[in-house]
Amino acid sequence: MNTQITRQFHLYISKPTRKRTLLEQYRHWRAVKKPPYKHVVQIGDPVLRMVCKEIPRNEITSSKVQSLVQRLTNVMRRKGLTSLSAPQIGVPLRMFTAEQMDHHLKSIPQEEINKLGMAPFELKVLINPKLQIVDETLIEEGEMCYSVHNYHAVVKRHKAVQIDAFNAKGEPCKWFAQDWQARIAQHEFDHMDGVLFVDRMDSRTLTDSMWKMYNDQGKLYW
Ligand code: CO
Repeated sequence: MNTQITRQFHLYISKPTRKRTLLEQYRHWRAVKKPPYKHVVQIGDPVLRMVCKEIPRNEITSSKVQSLVQRLTNVMRRKGLTSLSAPQIGVPLRMFTAEQMDHHLKSIPQEEINKLGMAPFELKVLINPKLQIVDETLIEEGEMCYSVHNYHAVVKRHKAVQIDAFNAKGEPCKWFAQDWQARIAQHEFDHMDGVLFVDRMDSRTLTDSMWKMYNDQGKLYW
């Protein structure tokens, strides 16, 4: 690797020389340092590129897997996300959660909801998911991922898919997902094999969600 680049990287990873503020100190003390994390890992973390392992069916009800389900659900809700996969909290196991609450949709204009085919749905815990394409029609829409924070891009996804998995009780379950739900299902299923939306995006549509603000403020936030 080019030395200059290495130096730049070093700048990013080296510890700040100034003293931490009280808030930073508190966050540092409170942060969970080992997976499953209470934060969402970011692109560049090798765990996001791993092919995740299946969870043996007889271990689904074990306290270890159950606490992972709880942590994943909590982090998803606390961050206000619609879905989250286990590798995103640092655990390379085949599991993801999804939930579309009514109040998520309240902040989205009705036109957008209709166009994207969004609808609320209850919490789903999907373990060892298998994906089947039901409608091959490709739909182009903007997509984002909390592990590629602040960026979005256009990604083509199939219109309808079916997920066959096990729920948190270890029982077989199905999720027939179409439109926006199909996008969520395909996005999260990709995380099981270390694939991110940036691998599938139309790269010329990659957008920093804050780009306008940088111009308004005349600066970056770092
Ligand atoms: Co994601």
